[in-house]
Amino acid sequence: MSEKHPFQLRDHGHKIIELIVTDLDIKPDHKSIATLQLLKKKFEQIIFRLDESASLNPDVLPILLKVGEFGGLKIVAASAEQVLFDLHGIPLFKDTISAIQRIRGEKIAEKILKQIGTIGPMRSAAYNLLQMMRNPDVKFEEIEEVTSKDPNLVMRMLKTANTAYFRRRIPVETLKSAVTYLGLEGIRQLLIHEMFSNFAEFFSNQRDRLAHMRRCSHLSAFIGKTIGLDVPTIGKIRVAGLLHDLGSLAFSFYDEQEYRKVISMSRKEKLTTAEAELRVFGVDHTYLGVLYAKEMGMPDYVVSVIEKHHNEFIDAEDLTLMSVICANGFLNDKIEQIQYTGYDEYFKKFAEIIDSKNPALKNPPQEETETDEADEELSETEEIMDELTASFKPMQFYGLLKEELDQFIMAGVDAQGL
Ligand SMILES: [Fe+2]
Ligand SMILES: [Fe+2]
Repeated sequence: MSEKHPFQLRDHGHKIIELIVTDLDIKPDHKSIATLQLLKKKFEQIIFRLDESASLNPDVLPILLKVGEFGGLKIVAASAEQVLFDLHGIPLFKDTISAIQRIRGEKIAEKILKQIGTIGPMRSAAYNLLQMMRNPDVKFEEIEEVTSKDPNLVMRMLKTANTAYFRRRIPVETLKSAVTYLGLEGIRQLLIHEMFSNFAEFFSNQRDRLAHMRRCSHLSAFIGKTIGLDVPTIGKIRVAGLLHDLGSLAFSFYDEQEYRKVISMSRKEKLTTAEAELRVFGVDHTYLGVLYAKEMGMPDYVVSVIEKHHNEFIDAEDLTLMSVICANGFLNDKIEQIQYTGYDEYFKKFAEIIDSKNPALKNPPQEETETDEADEELSETEEIMDELTASFKPMQFYGLLKEELDQFIMAGVDAQGL
């Protein structure tokens, strides 16, 4: 029977076609695979569904990647056993309805990006510069020329170049030297802060979300400092934390009322925001945020944090992502009291890093045998040494984050801007 009907087709309209297969171990010579390539010419979206009995052979991957090159292929398989290899980004769904929902979501996301491209912050000098800096061979003179057209940006660059971190003996007074001192990454981070300020003005009706993003930025960077990361890495963490929920801003810009539905649905049904977004829009804020960030020319580390900040499994060495996940999870859990992505398991890793950098732990003081007269003095020293050589407890992070956040909120920085 499968010889005669190696597959079935179902037209869903709107240029979406579903191809259903039932055979085991489908290889490149299977008729459905040749058909996929033909369908690609006629339809915008192909849903390749493996029926319960079907499975894919890894040899088909190169063809699938070609067919799905511009996001036009979705695979449906109810069980993970049916596709036992990495699909390299081709989306996989448990059922056809979810695949169709995603296609709908992708269309909405496309529309949002088009609309958002027309707003003020996307026409600023900061935006133009970020675009320019996508070119790895960009010259400082070119950056200087574009910057010089925006007096606010010039002031900001001079101010940043004269902060404690960059300050030299002679103050930085010209744009040319500011650009040189800041370096490409420093300028990029400054531009991202500048873009965020522009967003904050434009999206001023979204105070809570903006405050959440600023708090997350501050706490993520605080974690970076606490575990002793270097200043450039902390700078990266700060901007990644600042933009992590960029997709949510874009959703509410597109349809504020619909986005309110997302928030109340997630509270009522105890869903994560991402789950509720999937139901309402077909894609979540990580998907939309990645598209938006790429469109703006954001660096890879920012895109990666936007994409993965709700992932349960992450690279165990990615401290930038881990810091943002912890700050975001802490805020969601303890402050906003909404469904959150697991975060406190990373506290253990942070505590280990702190301990590994504690010299007193590496070389614990030798036990001393002293006379009775020195006993009192000795016990005081012991107390201090005990404190120094005590391992950092993962649970201590709760208190540290709370204290830091309280100070940040009291300073009013989260509500006013950077
Ligand atoms: Fe998020
Ligand atoms: Fe968040």
